[in-house]
Amino acid sequence: MARDWPTPARGRVSVPGYGVLSKPDSAGAVMAGVPDPEPPYLITGATGAVGAAVARALARERKPLVLWTRTRTGGQSVCETLRAEFPDVAVRLVDGDLGHMSSVRKTAAELELVCPRLGAIIHCAGVLTRLREETPEGLERMFATNHLGPFLLTRMLCERLERARPTRIVFVSAASAAPIHFEDLQSRRTFRALPAFASSKTAQLLFAFALARRFSSGPWTSNVFFPGVVRSGLLREAPWIVRAFSRAVGSAADRAGDSLAWVATAASLASANGQFFEGTRIGSTPDYVQDVGRQERLWEASERILSTTQGHAG
Ligand SMILES: NC(=O)c1ccc[n+]([C@@H]2O[C@H](COP(=O)([O-])OP(=O)(O)OC[C@H]3O[C@@H](n4cnc5c(N)ncnc54)[C@H](OP(=O)(O)O)[C@@H]3O)[C@@H](O)[C@H]2O)c1
Repeated sequence: MARDWPTPARGRVSVPGYGVLSKPDSAGAVMAGVPDPEPPYLITGATGAVGAAVARALARERKPLVLWTRTRTGGQSVCETLRAEFPDVAVRLVDGDLGHMSSVRKTAAELELVCPRLGAIIHCAGVLTRLREETPEGLERMFATNHLGPFLLTRMLCERLERARPTRIVFVSAASAAPIHFEDLQSRRTFRALPAFASSKTAQLLFAFALARRFSSGPWTSNVFFPGVVRSGLLREAPWIVRAFSRAVGSAADRAGDSLAWVATAASLASANGQFFEGTRIGSTPDYVQDVGRQERLWEASERILSTTQGHAG
């Protein structure tokens, strides 16, 4: 069993490659009797179908947002659309490549400086590649983007944003039980696109439930959300038959966005932890991802891989 996450020193953050930085003192505002503003909701993959839909659903509820997008230009266009429709909602933008750990470290460090509290972290980013691609750090792109980047980002924010509590963490995924090949996590020996993609979604579930166990005494929560089959650009590199199926049965992302916003905000779900939401219903997941030994094995393997990317210039 991996150790508990350490509690950070109040007001100071130590960021690899950045040294020790001061955090904004929002506690001062509380002590002076100024009400704390509502903490923003962080959404990754906000240029995608599900990410943009949940951003819009939350903006409709007047929730402040921080959008994490892969590129600045993609993010700016989503920001402009949201600001035009909801001019009174605070929307901030950060950009970083979730498949590139040094980029995740840099953007997460910036994020915690500008934004010491978060209402929720909603992991919507995801990628499927037809061929095996390597990131500049030598990681297989789907494993890196769909699992390792969110793992690192969540770990950094949970370790350091002590005033963020209570924070909900929601992973947008599917009930995958595709096996994790621990002996070949980077798919160097064997790579097949769909099984590798499905494994990266299994990894996401194993991490989400391992996190939920660590949060079992509250007040943080970690849950998984399945949006249903949604028409999006995710499968653009998938075989034509998969794309055709998704087009035929997929729906627009709006409804998934509304349900996801509900999972991230509903007062009635404040203590829901370790759940798999299918839309607004609680569903079940395969035994494979509930296996504690496997969850911990992946956690430790992920920590080991991350330690090899420390200080990597990329
Ligand atoms: N669509 C479905 O039917 C379905 C079903 C179950 C689960 N899901 C899950 O839902 C999530 C969202 O899927 P979607 O359908 O909305 O897909 P999408 O439209 O393709 O959106 C994917 C998002 O991830 C971002 N992204 C990709 N690589 C990234 C990177 N390296 N760093 C940062 N961001 C990156 C994309 O940014 P760019 O636009 O810049 O590339 C985009 O915003 C995925 O995790 C997916 O597995 C989807």
